[in-house]
Amino acid sequence: METVKHLTWHVQDVSREMREARNGHGSFVLWLTGLSGAGKSTLAAAIDRRLFDLGCHSMVLDGDNVRQGLCADLGFSLDERRENIRRVGEVGKLLVDAGGIAIVALISPLRADRDRVRSRFAAGRFVEIWCDAPLQVCEQRDPKGLYKKARAGQLCDFTGVSSPYEPPLRAEIRLDTAARSVADDVDAVMEFLGERELVRFAEMAQR
Ligand code: ADX
Repeated sequence: METVKHLTWHVQDVSREMREARNGHGSFVLWLTGLSGAGKSTLAAAIDRRLFDLGCHSMVLDGDNVRQGLCADLGFSLDERRENIRRVGEVGKLLVDAGGIAIVALISPLRADRDRVRSRFAAGRFVEIWCDAPLQVCEQRDPKGLYKKARAGQLCDFTGVSSPYEPPLRAEIRLDTAARSVADDVDAVMEFLGERELVRFAEMAQR
């Protein structure tokens, strides 16, 4: 038993391994990072659908959604983003401890913040996926009209315009989301999961 700041970590009877065995797949987080408009939410939903249809226990944690509840008190300064990322990372960790697959879609613009979350997971259980669409493409798409507002000075601290984005240096998967279809990107993610044996597709199909 480890004691930190007068707190005790209680080891549970039902372990993550037992939950994974029952679910029939590994538990891990898929962390989608990229600019606003790069396709993170769309891809997260498509990955979730594919995994759900296979019988996996997955759940999407999307920035736009968590910011309406768990993180409703947070804005877009770098400090507030760090806290947003930390909280979502901790929820992701709980889902992973529960034997599930957490699919996180957050801009998460700074490497240090992403690496801090990574350090909370055992090796191999944090899969960083860079949705790599050029700023010009995201800005042209502008699905929510936010780039336009940011350029007009009506929205401050906007990623890629008035706030930084640091591309990953060691993402497990880089997806050219501007050039490829969502289905192809989902296939690439599934291929990675199969190779790492995080999901054994043949076994899942037989359940
Ligand atoms: S993060 O930087 O803290 O990871 P997060 O992914 O939760 O960001 O939220 C990004 C979403 O918030 C965007 O998809 C966009 O809809 C909205 N948003 C509102 N203001 C901003 C802003 N200043 N910068 C980026 N996104 C913003």
